[in-house]
Amino acid sequence: MSKTILKGGKVVDANASREADVLIMDGIISEVDNNLYVGDDVEVVNVAGLTVMPSFADLHVHLRDPGFLHKETLETGIRAAVNGGYTHIVAMANTKPIADNTEVIADVLARAQRLSLAEVYQAAAVSIGEKGEKAVDFRTLRSLTKFFSDDGKNVDSEEIFAEALRASKELDFLIMDHSEPETEMVLRNIELLEKNGGNLHFCHISKADSMMAIMNAKDKGLRVTVEVTPHHLLGYDNDYRVNPPLATKADVDFLIRAIKDGYVDCISTDHAPHTAEDKAAGAPGISGIEVAFPIINTVFSENGIKPEGLSRLMSKNPMIMMGVNSGLLQVGYEANLVIVDENADVVVDASKFVSMGKNTPFNGTKLKGKVIHTIKKGEFLK
Ligand code: DOR
Ligand code: ZN
Repeated sequence: MSKTILKGGKVVDANASREADVLIMDGIISEVDNNLYVGDDVEVVNVAGLTVMPSFADLHVHLRDPGFLHKETLETGIRAAVNGGYTHIVAMANTKPIADNTEVIADVLARAQRLSLAEVYQAAAVSIGEKGEKAVDFRTLRSLTKFFSDDGKNVDSEEIFAEALRASKELDFLIMDHSEPETEMVLRNIELLEKNGGNLHFCHISKADSMMAIMNAKDKGLRVTVEVTPHHLLGYDNDYRVNPPLATKADVDFLIRAIKDGYVDCISTDHAPHTAEDKAAGAPGISGIEVAFPIINTVFSENGIKPEGLSRLMSKNPMIMMGVNSGLLQVGYEANLVIVDENADVVVDASKFVSMGKNTPFNGTKLKGKVIHTIKKGEFLK
């Protein structure tokens, strides 16, 4: 039996923050308490001055595999995620070929499994080829995934979106919606949700008006979830190309207000690696998974949002949406953990990214917070 004690750190999850040791036995959190007894058979990791939290879960990453291996591969993308403190990620479907069939999805899942690093869920497209003309075979694909998204593109057809919503209810899956133009399509899709029911998640919301519409829907009792990205909380008035574009300071302030008021369900990175050539040719996106923690840690602490709030949005809620028994520092849960230094001064340096995508508008930005270790089922992956 393998036993590890993380000794002398601060432990934080969505519920609480305190000083405590953590005992991991055979990949499971077995005790969280002060001054845990260290037997001969225990490996001790001294984490004094550091913080132990549940590892992060990201509902929205682009791994580019298959088809765009010059931008990222399954392996580099997953290693980048682990470097950022993530053990669970959902890969988007805008690969080549598009992940609209069982072959592509099963292949990605099998290769990810063989790498045996982070847990990868592969989203399926909503429409065949993400062309918006014909819905995918939800029933068949549901056996391989519970996430469906035409991310990168808006689903223009109301009929297909409504069909997807009804299927999401019947087959119990989540539609991850890339609304473009954002506010207009958020409003339309909330209306379609009211008429059809279903499980709807709004991706990368960037504007006050869109968030307001989602808050109103939640206040009315509609069941919707919403994510915001680190880059839309840190960047504004900046024309670095990303979809949706970086917004204004007023939008950012509103998003932070929405987070404080409990309307935002999770932080997702929309990690979107591109080559320098593709960026120069106008490709939208930011390579962000390795700086998500320092960005959110910095923005949240500057705005008086506690580490518990960060843990709720980066671990607890997205893990629940993935259906994983993780996301809290709770005895009996899988030991999927990160050890971070909340107070480390860091400067963003994309040349050091593990990701093949070095595309970020934040190079040289000073932030606070560093991921020191990433642990999956008790195993140190970083
Ligand atoms: O900026 C973006 N890049 N937004 C998206 O929705 C898609 C992504 C990509 O695939 O590059
Ligand atoms: Zn998108």
